[in-house]
Amino acid sequence: MTLTASKTQDIIATESRYDSGVYNKHSIVITKGLGAKVWDADGREYIDCVVGISVANVGHSNPDVVKAIQDQAATLMVCPQTYPNDKRSAFYAELASILPAGLERIFPCNSGAEAMEAALKFARVATGREKFVAMKRGFSGRTMGALSLTYEPKYREPFGGLVHETSFVAFNDLEQLEAAIDENTAAVIIEPVQGEGGVRPATPEFLRAARALTKKHGALLIFDEIQTGFGRTGKWWGHQHACEPDCTHTCALSSGCTIQPDIMTLAKAIGSGIPLGAMTMTHEVANKMPKGGHGTTFGGNPLAMAAGIATIKYMKKHNLIEQSAELGAYFLEQLSKINSKKIKEIRARGLIIGLELKEHSAPYLEALEKDHAILAYSATPTVMRFLPPLVISKAEIDQVVKAVAAVLENVNPKG
Ligand SMILES: Cc1ncc(COP(=O)(O)O)c(C=O)c1O
Repeated sequence: MTLTASKTQDIIATESRYDSGVYNKHSIVITKGLGAKVWDADGREYIDCVVGISVANVGHSNPDVVKAIQDQAATLMVCPQTYPNDKRSAFYAELASILPAGLERIFPCNSGAEAMEAALKFARVATGREKFVAMKRGFSGRTMGALSLTYEPKYREPFGGLVHETSFVAFNDLEQLEAAIDENTAAVIIEPVQGEGGVRPATPEFLRAARALTKKHGALLIFDEIQTGFGRTGKWWGHQHACEPDCTHTCALSSGCTIQPDIMTLAKAIGSGIPLGAMTMTHEVANKMPKGGHGTTFGGNPLAMAAGIATIKYMKKHNLIEQSAELGAYFLEQLSKINSKKIKEIRARGLIIGLELKEHSAPYLEALEKDHAILAYSATPTVMRFLPPLVISKAEIDQVVKAVAAVLENVNPKG
């Protein structure tokens, strides 16, 4: 859909007029997406390395997902979880086929924050404890419960007293972790790769220590795979990078892994754009929650379930996990060839890639969008984050890398 320049300005003005004001807005109007591309209202084509912040992993408007949604919309869109439903049951079976061993129960909801809220409630009930250990630079969402675990002071401080008592430890610091966990800890929450915190992968030693220490103290281990799940890191789940070399741990058939979590939270890519989240857990955790102890109107609705089934099936059919690992390695290799004094470090796991600069990344991200039609996102003020769909082509990656090299060379914010 191409609009006139004045219509584009109208859209921006109207949106700004009524908007909550909490977002810093870009000055383009996105109207269409397909695969790794989006188009603005002027018909300009962009390579999208944001995809809704790691949502459209199977590509924008993936035809299989679109068809599933269309068919389901014409059949049944709502059905409370008190009534069994064919699509929900099929979704559970599909998700269970890719879940790590031990995670056999599912609470479907509508977003990442909701999955985290569920995780915190279940953890408190399952352990009878109220304290949490979370990570510095960690991000768990914006609702008051999830916010208690979100580290960045600017996200928490305006809102006064939070819901959960939380100790924050330095990410990947084993000593601090050991000192923070005790007999009052309900759970430790870890993102296997910190996304908002600047694309920082957890070390295998840290994840294994977290598992051992939580077991020792009777606390739960929660992996927040909201950003890292569904192939983003080149494996189904980001924490699988820390599996022992001989651990298959790719499906419910494996067992005995040293880092099996008690709870894993999912959202973002699970529904390819239809709001969908899930909190997955062991039988032991699920069995402690009383009937009626938690619930949601929309969670598990057939429309979202249909999108979830189509997403997982598409990923399996097209080997997107292997593709993500291969393309991620290629992307990293090409980026690493850029010779610029402005680069501090490049960190990556599969197709979550962070290029940390020695200065603020905003002017470079702006130039990528404006001058090269590439969408990428910040993660902390100095990190350029690339979250392309797992269906991006090598030629598109080459275009992105060329553009990154060009902006690093040509943009000079200091004048
Ligand atoms: C790791 C992580 N946890 C939780 C959330 C919150 O998810 P949502 O925005 O769907 O509430 C996010 C969102 O970016 C996230 O990256």
